[in-house]
Amino acid sequence: MIQKPIFIRHANQLITLKNSSSAPLKGNEMNELHIIEDGSVWLEHGIIQAVGTDKEVAELFQERLEEAYVIDATGKIVTPGLVDPHTHLVHAGSRENEFNMRLQGATYMEIMNAGGGIHSSTKATREATHEQLYEQSYKRLDQFLLHGVTTVEAKSGYGLAWEHELKQLEVAKTLHEQHPIDIVSTFMGAHAVPANFKENPDEFVDLVINEMIPRVAELGLAEFNDVFCERGVFTPKQSKRILEAGLDHGLLAKIHADEIEPYAGAELAAEVGAVSADHLLRVSDEGVIAMAEHGVIAVLLPGTAFFLMADFANGRRMIDAGVAVALSTDSNPGSSPTISLPFIMNLGCLKMGMTPAEVLTATTINAAHAIKRGHEVGSIEKGKKADITIFNVPNFYQLVYHYGMNHTDSVIKGGKMVVQGGQLV
Ligand code: NIG
Ligand code: FE
Repeated sequence: MIQKPIFIRHANQLITLKNSSSAPLKGNEMNELHIIEDGSVWLEHGIIQAVGTDKEVAELFQERLEEAYVIDATGKIVTPGLVDPHTHLVHAGSRENEFNMRLQGATYMEIMNAGGGIHSSTKATREATHEQLYEQSYKRLDQFLLHGVTTVEAKSGYGLAWEHELKQLEVAKTLHEQHPIDIVSTFMGAHAVPANFKENPDEFVDLVINEMIPRVAELGLAEFNDVFCERGVFTPKQSKRILEAGLDHGLLAKIHADEIEPYAGAELAAEVGAVSADHLLRVSDEGVIAMAEHGVIAVLLPGTAFFLMADFANGRRMIDAGVAVALSTDSNPGSSPTISLPFIMNLGCLKMGMTPAEVLTATTINAAHAIKRGHEVGSIEKGKKADITIFNVPNFYQLVYHYGMNHTDSVIKGGKMVVQGGQLV
């Protein structure tokens, strides 16, 4: 079927984030959204063909105006499709039983060390079939889409044994092919030490390095390799071996760093040249400096601090130190069971000292760079993928001000309308 061009017209604010495709935005640049008032965009062949004021774009296409499907964005804002650069999308089960335990004072790590937490999700995920995981994750992706998200990173890590890690990665691949949302896959075999290796964690590390990473790379099932570097999970030394093994096989490095305790995770990210270090609630000053110097993107996950009742990462300090900051839901069954990236944006402002402009940068172009998609998505520029979200608010401040609600009006993914009037098409 031939797809009509889509002409989005008269946006109150067209938020372009232009000139950001080659590198993530840092420092003051994170406030420069490059907004066009009465803005319009012409989308065709899945690509953004023209961006400008309505007058400019209408003039450019004056001969072809009749051909287009017109969306009137009067009174609304138009942004790049949001990008979520850190999720544990593919999993089975839910852990509300732990919620009550935590409300009564048990900590996340205590629950995990007692065999719950990640281990509980691993049990459920191992028991689930490919089809069951696919169906549950597909529904989550629909929810992401309904909240304006068009690209999602997804980690494995609830298998912790080859056949189940493989199953998770294959589900992510099928979802990428069949759901409108694009998925970028990360292998995270080193998410926890499984119970049968409790006495010999290094043996599990060897298994990840010698058996799993080479196979993931050979099968082309992931672009990134991630590890939970935390006291009681994987040490910085083990994490380094795992990340370097990934790099040897062409898997770019990411790291769950300094979440519960300062553990020199950010420093390790800088040392191995990781694309991002994620969490960073307890990052050291040296770690922040090292990240700025080595261009490691900070992927901050305030939903996790919120849900675990922990102190928030200091986003303000990182931006002021010259670190490029991205934001993500960390969507997962234990520490952040949400898909609402707009709520995360609100937390970024209220709890991490970021401005509304910075949180938009952090969930679009900087998030895209955190998964190596900055050249393709994350800004509204000619030649980029036609991934666009329209929010039913007159200015971008309202997107974070009226919090905890879904302002998404329409979503266009790869030039195709996928959400209209807040409903899936
Ligand atoms: O990013 N911190 C480690 N991993 C996940 C949580 C996984 C889980 O609790 O199931 C995170 O918060
Ligand atoms: Fe995570």
